[in-house]
Amino acid sequence: MAKLTQKDFLKGTIKHIDMKKYNVVPMVEAFENMAYSSRDLARASKIYHQMLSDKNCSVILCIAGSLISAGLKKIIVDMIQNHMVDAIVSNGANIVDQDFFEALGYKHYLGSQHNADDNLLRDLHIDRIYDTYINEDELKECDETIHQICEYLEPRPYSSREFIWEMGKWLEKNKKGKDSVVYNAYKYGVPVFVPAFSDCSAGFGFVAHQTQHPEAHVSIDSAKDFLELTKIKMKAKETGLMMFSGGVPKNFAQDTVVAAEILGSDCPMHKYAVQITVADERDGALSGSTLKEASSWGKVSTALEQMVYGECTTLIPLIIGYGYHKGAWKKRKAANYVKFLQDEDKKVAALKAKQNKAKK
Ligand SMILES: NC(=O)c1ccc[n+]([C@@H]2O[C@H](COP(=O)([O-])OP(=O)(O)OC[C@H]3O[C@@H](n4cnc5c(N)ncnc54)[C@H](O)[C@@H]3O)[C@@H](O)[C@H]2O)c1
Repeated sequence: MAKLTQKDFLKGTIKHIDMKKYNVVPMVEAFENMAYSSRDLARASKIYHQMLSDKNCSVILCIAGSLISAGLKKIIVDMIQNHMVDAIVSNGANIVDQDFFEALGYKHYLGSQHNADDNLLRDLHIDRIYDTYINEDELKECDETIHQICEYLEPRPYSSREFIWEMGKWLEKNKKGKDSVVYNAYKYGVPVFVPAFSDCSAGFGFVAHQTQHPEAHVSIDSAKDFLELTKIKMKAKETGLMMFSGGVPKNFAQDTVVAAEILGSDCPMHKYAVQITVADERDGALSGSTLKEASSWGKVSTALEQMVYGECTTLIPLIIGYGYHKGAWKKRKAANYVKFLQDEDKKVAALKAKQNKAKK
């Protein structure tokens, strides 16, 4: 038998679903009169529609798991382009290994969880995410591009939001990734936070960069991320959380209410909250903890929250598709929180300069 090569496995590519093509409104509304998950899903969809209809509400999207590689990129890009989201908090895998990776021109491939010979895949430099394959050699290019970006930036600590903005600028300069989350967030002024930024392909780029420049290097300041997101919460006041999966992004966004309180602000709890997850609450861990439970911590209001138990690739096109086809986003304006944060940075820099001058 002829020896199998990478080409034998990396054939069909993952295609990102276009929610604009499917008007799911009648089906989701029919779910309202059913039971169990269908009714939960209908309520979650309506809560998302309410977030978009509320002119005082800023929408924070939280993403964990592997959703971009699974075909959900276009939905998130459509959310950005149509003002259906004002800030994003994600894990690194979605933003760097998957979105930025595709922005460089690479693809995710249709694989199989049933007959995968993982030792053979290892030999062929193919990485597997359940039923999806990735060319590992291409992923190394992603690490290396992050390394290159670090090399030309001024050596100092950056929030992940600032660094991801630089990634968007890099894509623009190199004419790549017009259909990516990173590029569109850059273009539309939507801040993207990745609180555990080194825990993905970016980490390999940073390790290389910092080893080469031990004295002065680019680093990520996760506390600055938290402060920036808290400033957004304080400016927005009313907020709605759309949480895909769970993980660090869920808690990071929820905790801004507590951080705002520490800073002396009388910010309300998150007014709206929806989470889609397969995690359950029995282990006491964060991902499966209910939004009702979050209200005991003073983070989420209980009136307009909904957990939906199921897998994201099937549920997100329905819930976000409902919000899209109901059309409340047409009356929303871009919040441009990137500009707000850049102005805040300028104020801090001006204050520092004044203090330094006074010392001299
Ligand atoms: N996901 C990957 O393949 C991958 C790859 C490289 C690095 N990482 C890093 O690992 C760290 C942890 O990853 P995480 O934040 O995704 O946490 P995680 O993998 O623990 O997922 C968080 C929760 O979301 C649920 N979930 C995940 N995918 C779901 C889906 N499709 N539908 C419904 N629920 C789902 C999980 O059951 C879990 O309870 C991150 O820092 C990330 O960057 C992950």
